Parts: sequence; structure tokens; C-alpha cells
Amino acid sequence: MTLKLCVIPGDGVGAEVIPSAVEVLRAVAQDLAIISAEAGWACFERCGDSFPTATRDAIRECGAALFGATSSPSRKVEGYRSPILGMRRAFDLYANLRPTRDTGLRPAASAVAASLPDGIARADLLIVRENTEGLYVQREYMRGEEAIAERAITAAASARIGRVALEHARARRKALTIVHKANVLPLTDGVFRDAVRAEAKAFPDVAVNELLVDTAALQIAARPQQFDVIVTTNLFGDILSDLASLWGGGMGVAPALNLGTGVAIAEPVHGSAPDIAGKGIANPAGAMLSAALLLRHHWGRTEAADRLEAAVHAALGAGVRTPDLGGSARTQEVTAAVLTQLGIHR
Ligand code: NAI
Ligand code: MG
Repeated sequence: MTLKLCVIPGDGVGAEVIPSAVEVLRAVAQDLAIISAEAGWACFERCGDSFPTATRDAIRECGAALFGATSSPSRKVEGYRSPILGMRRAFDLYANLRPTRDTGLRPAASAVAASLPDGIARADLLIVRENTEGLYVQREYMRGEEAIAERAITAAASARIGRVALEHARARRKALTIVHKANVLPLTDGVFRDAVRAEAKAFPDVAVNELLVDTAALQIAARPQQFDVIVTTNLFGDILSDLASLWGGGMGVAPALNLGTGVAIAEPVHGSAPDIAGKGIANPAGAMLSAALLLRHHWGRTEAADRLEAAVHAALGAGVRTPDLGGSARTQEVTAAVLTQLGIHR
């Protein structure tokens, strides 16, 4: 079976880390066939479309994509829409998997110790983020003086994401935490919580509890090892996964996979990082680990995924690290070190 992959580097550091991820992916999946496509801000400036039809068609043809990041302006630009939101919508990529595993790496800017006292378990958690509704539908408008953003939650989408989370929990340590804010939003977050709870009846082997999102944030910061799988709505999942990423080494390391039915798009959690773009020092680990998620959860190549993840962690563990992890290595040096771990000397 040939693995077909649509590669979309995007803007800023996206275009710097994606080629590295493709290179190491090729090392563990020799039957990889690639179609290149474009999306993002530069693409919009050039052709007036941030997510061209040709890119959509290429993703559909491949059924899998690896996407870097785009620079989305934080003001309204006529005609521009965030391409990743467009992709999630176009292919109904309803589940966003965001795992964090503590291997002792910490962002250089963080004061959290990498070494833990004996007997303290390390974080190994998976945030399953609902990816199709909530505030990301972008129904924003003015009503007189009021700026309004609508947040709709459906039982169907909540049940669907609940099932994904429960299946992952079953395959892991069999514990699921539902994160919501039903004390303030009893209707919308009540629908979410109740729909996940109803799905959980079919998973008697999975222990289910729930936390309010603010408490969950504190607990992820204070005692992340208590979590196995967390399921939550779109915005909460976005925010909590940045926080959780701290335990795995931060934004340069955090991977994500958008999953639908038959289509998957891997993307590092980070954005285009304009502060370091063009310097050749972006950490390619997040993009590489995202590619590993494609192997594991979309293509079913568990062994290749294991090899790739182990190679990334071995290279970083040996001290070949970009500045975000306190090192002085460049993107290309990390890439070479991961390839070396995979037996390839370039
Ligand atoms: P960001 O993730 O781009 O950067 C946050 C911090 O993390 C910065 O200090 C950056 O240097 C660092 N960082 C990010 N990726 C890194 C890497 N690979 N290696 C080392 N350090 C890394 O988030 P920010 O600054 O909030 O957003 C910048 C732009 O990215 C915005 O235009 C935003 O809209 C866009 N963005 C796009 C996303 C996407 O396309 N999926 C996701 C998040 C943001
Ligand atoms: Mg985010």
C-alpha cells in the first residue's frame, strides 16, 4: 500500500519544519507518495485565496495531509479565512487529538523543573478537542453597540467526539475527564457533558469524571499525571492543549492530528512563529511528532510511528535541541540527528 500525503508547508516556521518532518517520515515509510499544495497568508496575498480549490482537491485525493501553520491576521481582512478552519470544515475533521508526554524536556522560558522527585509519575495525557463547533464556527456580528459571538453545541457532535475520546481511553489507561463550564453555561455545556456521559454507558471499563475548565487548567498545571484522556469543547481544548504542551517541551514539540472519516490532517500545535521565522532555528519536533500521529492513528502503521517518536525523543534526549528547548542546534541539525537515530546519515 502506498501512503499518499498532501504536504502544505504554509507560512513562517511552518515552511521550515514541514520539509524536515517529511524527510524523517520518508525514513520510516519508504512507500510515501507526496503531492505538494499551498495554503495560508502568503498564498492569499499571491492568489487571493488562503485555501485554494486545488489544495482542497489534493487533500481529498490523498486522504491525508501534513500542514505547517499560517499567519492569520488578528484583524478582519476582507476575503481572508483561516485555512486550517477551512480544512477542518471541508473534510468534517471533527476530532483533534493533542497528546502530551513528559520526557523531561521543558521550554527554555519555563521555570518548571525537568527532574521530578522520585515516585512522581510523569504526565502522559491526551486532549481530545471537539473540532467543528463552538466559537470556531465564527458566527460573529455586531448588534448595535454589542459585538456578539455565537457558540452553538449539539448533542450529535458532542456524542461523536465523546466516542472518539472513550475509544482512546479504552486503548490507554481507561480514564476519561470531561471538561466543561456547565455551572455558567448549563444549556450548551450541559448538552456536551450529558452527551458524552450517555456514550460512556457503552464503555463500562472506562472511568469517567468531570471538571470545570478553570479547575482543569489548574490541575493540568499542578498535577498533570492524574489525567489520561481529556475531552472538551473546541475553545477549551485549544487553550488547555497549549498549557499541557508545557509538560512535553512546549510549543515547538507539541503535535496534533485532525481526524474525520477517512481523512486526516496532521499539524503541529504551534503557529507561524513570526518572532523566529527565517532564522533556521524552529524546532521541527512538533511537526515530526504530528507526522507520527498520522502513521499511528490514520494509516495504522504503529511500528513506524513508534520508531519515529523514539528517534525524535532520542535526538532531543541526547541534547540536540533548538533554542526553545535551551539548546543551540538549528532546525537542520535536529533533523540530521533524528535521521541518524533512524540509521540515515546525510
Ligand atoms: P506561535 O505558536 O506561532 O508562537 C508562540 C511562541 O512559540 C513564540 O514564541 C514562538 O517563537 C514559539 N514557537 C512556535 N513554534 C515554534 C517552533 N517550531 N520552534 C520553536 N519555537 C516555536 O503563536 P502566536 O505567536 O500566537 O501566533 C503567530 C501566528 O501564527 C499568528 O498569525 C496566528 O494566527 C498563527 N497561528 C496559526 C496556527 C495554525 O496555523 N494552525 C496556530 C496558532 C497560531
Ligand atoms: Mg492553538
